[in-house]
Amino acid sequence: MSKKIDIINGPNLNLLGKREPEIYGNSTLEDINKEIQKYASQHDIEINFFQSNIEGEIVTRIQECQNSDGLIINAAAFTHTSVAILDALKSLNIPKIEVHISNIYKREEFRHKSLISQSVNGIICGFGINGYKLAIEGMKNILNGN
Ligand code: DQA
Repeated sequence: MSKKIDIINGPNLNLLGKREPEIYGNSTLEDINKEIQKYASQHDIEINFFQSNIEGEIVTRIQECQNSDGLIINAAAFTHTSVAILDALKSLNIPKIEVHISNIYKREEFRHKSLISQSVNGIICGFGINGYKLAIEGMKNILNGN
């Protein structure tokens, strides 16, 4: 049976392609999601995509992932500030992977701290938009017990 994975992207990631391309690249979120969709179909994985600029909407979406097999989240700037997102992730009992397109440890000091990392199985950061595919690969291994 195919696995269901949710991907949540946080604030300003709807601007990918236009936003600081020297850091985040030239692909739009739509381009990235198409790529992910293609990759996922080849691996018999069903993906639900969600993006929001609003913290509460992200919390609600996380709460709705209870019946999913896994969650991949790039909480963007909320990574560094949101106790509400951390708490929502803590109460979600499925495997979770945190993704960042950029290497947050090579950037400003305020980005070095992730409030949500303590709630996830693993973190992928600094691999550009390929990080999402790497996260799916990682999630597949977790779900297969590897
Ligand atoms: C980001 C890194 C965050 O620090 C930043 O606020 C983002 C994107 C990344 O994918 O590299 O919006 O999560």
